[in-house]
Amino acid sequence: MRTGKESVKKLPISDQFIQELKSRTAIEEVISEYVQLKKSGRNYMGLCPFHNEKTPSFSVSPENGFFHCFGCGAGGDAITFIRKIENLDYVEAVNLLAARVGMTVPKDNRDDGMGRLKTRIYEANREAARFYHKQLYAPDGKQALEYLRKRQLTEKTIIHFGLGYSPASRFELVNYLKSKGFSGSEIIAANLANQSKKGNPFDRFSDRVMFPIIDLRGNVIAFGGRIMSDIKPKYLNTSDTPVFNKSRSLFALQFAKNKANGQLILVEGYMDVIALHQAGFENAVATLGTALTNEQAILIKRYCDEVVICYDADEAGQRATERAIGILRPTGLRVKVLTVPNGKDPDEFIKSYGEQGSARFRMLLEKTGNDIEYAISKLRTEFNTDIDAQRVEFFNRVTPVIAGIDNPVERDVYITRLSEELNVEKSAIANLVRKKFRRNESKLRNDEQKRAANELSAINNKMNKEKRFRLRAASAEEALIAVMITNPDIAVKIVERVQPELFPTAFNRSIYEILSQRVKSGREISLEDISGDFSVDEMGSITGIVASHPRENDPAAAAREYIEVLEDENGRLTPKQIEQSEPQDLNEYIKKLRKMKDKR
Ligand code: CTP
Ligand code: MN
Repeated sequence: MRTGKESVKKLPISDQFIQELKSRTAIEEVISEYVQLKKSGRNYMGLCPFHNEKTPSFSVSPENGFFHCFGCGAGGDAITFIRKIENLDYVEAVNLLAARVGMTVPKDNRDDGMGRLKTRIYEANREAARFYHKQLYAPDGKQALEYLRKRQLTEKTIIHFGLGYSPASRFELVNYLKSKGFSGSEIIAANLANQSKKGNPFDRFSDRVMFPIIDLRGNVIAFGGRIMSDIKPKYLNTSDTPVFNKSRSLFALQFAKNKANGQLILVEGYMDVIALHQAGFENAVATLGTALTNEQAILIKRYCDEVVICYDADEAGQRATERAIGILRPTGLRVKVLTVPNGKDPDEFIKSYGEQGSARFRMLLEKTGNDIEYAISKLRTEFNTDIDAQRVEFFNRVTPVIAGIDNPVERDVYITRLSEELNVEKSAIANLVRKKFRRNESKLRNDEQKRAANELSAINNKMNKEKRFRLRAASAEEALIAVMITNPDIAVKIVERVQPELFPTAFNRSIYEILSQRVKSGREISLEDISGDFSVDEMGSITGIVASHPRENDPAAAAREYIEVLEDENGRLTPKQIEQSEPQDLNEYIKKLRKMKDKR
């Protein structure tokens, strides 16, 4: 039931191999390489790496070999975890886990279709990076090399970042890659070429300085290309491909993660990153021509506890800074804001001081205030606090900022400072803050609950589009699936009695089909065993289903009951009627189901 991007005809790796791999893999060890886990009873708990949260709702069960997040619904076994967090397909994730425990996947069935295409794209990208780099030293690349030197990049830096030049002719890279055995469609899939009206590939990047983008495993996943004149766009980037998702990648993270030492510097551009690294600040990273995303924030959180935002000093940069604070802070990161003086970007700042550039930037870094100080000082410049009306407005604006601080001691520091600076009673400010704080608290709690509920139902609705029209049926289907997965002995009996056709919603029916095929051929159906048959999102839904159905006291009786509901529901509505019917209310149906059960 893999579809689209992950379409695979049959399972490429033997069950035996997977079983062996699982028995040698401790899921809590795999996950603790990404998430800080705390023991809690028989399970481990931590902050979910797949969504932003402050209180842990991510649980790992070593006994069952699976994880589940009660906040966002993500869940599955170790393989599913690796697929999701590393953005890999099934075979790639198995390879990674196998390498960890020193096992090798049998060679002849290592790659499935999508895995093979990805491998080809990685290879094409690597060849392209080599090609571009070589062009920099060819006669045609002279101007590009001079450009980089004019921007004061050293030879060492150019090589370290693997910078290059894409020739002006629109066919050189395509011809080169073809000579290396890559097909036109592979080159297009890598987005190294566009397709002409006639269907022929031609180079996407032409006459640009090239910046390869490299992932954490050293693969070239994309490129940025800068034009050397005033032609727009200044930067052209690879669009998303099967190996590249720009909202999940950060430029230079492969270097910065090893130099973070608790802190990353977040800048806007490629050149800023490169200038900072050259000046000795190798913990700098940049987003790739887009605003910071939640996924990137979570990625950043994995490698440090403190981020210094160092965006351009212009208006757009300041707006982006405020947005980034709002995305970074909820992850629990400490956030600081470094404003480069005189409207320069970090690259220009460092260059402007020549040999002193590095020392000067270090000074800026050392006196950088946190995001609260940044917000307060910004408000101070916006209002003239000598004028009564503006002073009132200033307090209206500044108290929510202080109320946003979790730590009461820290809140008190800012209240005291403001009271002294503006000569206002401390208790008066504290009162204002307290009011805002209470409102924040209850708003936060509501928001968090709403968000969790929305995310869960969004996942379910996304995966099972018919559900909201067939709530009663879908609830029974899910309950039955949960019973099967947690009671393999009963599953055998269910499979004997229930044909897949009895399942009214297509999504749950296809889950049931796969489960019943496995049961019929004598294979296991625990959550650990089935992940190879489902996509990451599907596994999320399935673990969600299991996690939200506590073990039944009498699973056989419960199963009978759910089957009766399905029989009752089966064939009730035609597709047309379904389309016209109102979405059903989930709680109502759960209540009804419970009542029915109580009567027995
Ligand atoms: N960017 C982009 N597309 C554009 C302009 C910018 O993708 N048309 C992205 C690039 O990642 C760029 C970053 O936004 O590095 C910042 O843009 P800008 O401040 O214009 O670039 P700088 O890094 O300062 O570039 P340079 O110093 O080379 O002018
Ligand atoms: Mn710049």
